[in-house]
Amino acid sequence: MFHLFNSFHASSWAILLVAFFLTYFLENKKIMSIILRLFYVVMLVSGIGMLTIMEFPMHFVVKGILAILLIGLMEMLLARQKKQSSSPLVLWILFIIDLILIILLGYKVISL
Ligand code: HEM
Repeated sequence: MFHLFNSFHASSWAILLVAFFLTYFLENKKIMSIILRLFYVVMLVSGIGMLTIMEFPMHFVVKGILAILLIGLMEMLLARQKKQSSSPLVLWILFIIDLILIILLGYKVISL
């Protein structure tokens, strides 16, 4: 079961990122935004599934929290764009820092 979650998780995170950028930059966002949300669910279910099997090690709990934050940031960026309000530079900086941390934690380049 762990292996199944892991293969979903490992092969989906890059697709999730591509789906986010396509949703952000495409004019017609309808279909892409549905696909993006589907990948949120895939990442959440597989991530939480692995966490449960691993009995919640600190390292991956922190990674999971940062990942949920990243999903929040993606949604905030999309919402800001929709409202055409001020350029969300702070959100982009947080997005990039958070993403780098998640990947480094995910591949255990840094460990807690
Ligand atoms: C934005 C969403 C996410 C991204 C970009 C992301 C990215 C990654 C990456 C790159 C890895 C390493 C993959 C590998 O081992 O091949 C990983 C592993 C992992 N992620 Fe995520 N993740 C996300 C969401 C989540 C969530 C929501 C949770 C849990 C609440 C989670 C829990 C885990 C766990 C437990 C592992 C360890 C798997 C192992 O031991 O091999 N992830 N994640």
